[in-house]
Amino acid sequence: GHGEGRFLRMIMFGKPGAGKGTLSARLVKKYEIVSLSTGDLLRQHIAEKTEVGLLAKEIVAAGGLLPDDVMLKVVTSKLDKLYNKHWILDGFPRTLGQGKMLDEHLSRQGSPMSLVVNLDVPDDVILSRISDRWVHLPSGRVYNLSYNPPKVAGHDDETGEPLTKRPDDNPETFARRLEQFYQSTSPLLAYYSAKAASDASLKVATLAGRTSDEIWPQLEGVIRTHFSSVKERLDSKR
Ligand code: AP5
Repeated sequence: GHGEGRFLRMIMFGKPGAGKGTLSARLVKKYEIVSLSTGDLLRQHIAEKTEVGLLAKEIVAAGGLLPDDVMLKVVTSKLDKLYNKHWILDGFPRTLGQGKMLDEHLSRQGSPMSLVVNLDVPDDVILSRISDRWVHLPSGRVYNLSYNPPKVAGHDDETGEPLTKRPDDNPETFARRLEQFYQSTSPLLAYYSAKAASDASLKVATLAGRTSDEIWPQLEGVIRTHFSSVKERLDSKR
């Protein structure tokens, strides 16, 4: 069959608010996959006031991007422990420089990128979602007042702890984050498409939709078709 014994090495690619975190969490819940979100990692660094966190605090609050070399270290220190797992990267790479560094790092390990999922959601949909987003900072769990509200208003489903707004989810900062996406991040898509054209082991899948419910079945289809070695969790509740 297709893709047996091949590890999922996936990038969840898309604009801020496209649903990268929400769809990654859904895949991780149902399948034996782990996910690494650089946004969540940075928010933890900021909360713990680490060296990276002190650097990140203002940059993230302003909707800018951290330097490529800092991000590479943050990611690879976690990623190197996941060599025998199927994984998803959410929020990395975000520049051409990060993409090339990551490819070099993975090819040294003999386990190159195998899937790029491009979430294609219209800007007007994204803007309305951001104002409704609430997060549980310690876990990165994401809620939306209209789409996936918490069971108890204002509180995390699993810990009962209070939910907060992200400091970068105001309209001004969000506009800056979208601008960064178009300037620095979107060129990565052409880079991966060109790579996929000459490399049969890399697939690029663009999934379009106004809601994650339109995108989810497409996403599952891609995983099941191309990565038959990815198994459902025995305890997965559907
Ligand atoms: P990061 O946390 O990665 O932010 P982002 O890319 O802007 O992505 P978001 O987390 O905003 O959105 P998402 O696509 O995950 O959407 P979600 O699922 O939450 O990064 C934050 C900052 O860190 C960056 O700005 C930068 O400063 C820094 N940084 C991070 N990585 C970096 C890197 N590699 N290099 C340099 N700097 C870096 O969904 C959004 C909302 O929509 C939620 O409320 C959700 O509930 C809702 N929703 C989802 N699906 C639906 C649906 N079907 N219908 C209605 N609502 C829905």
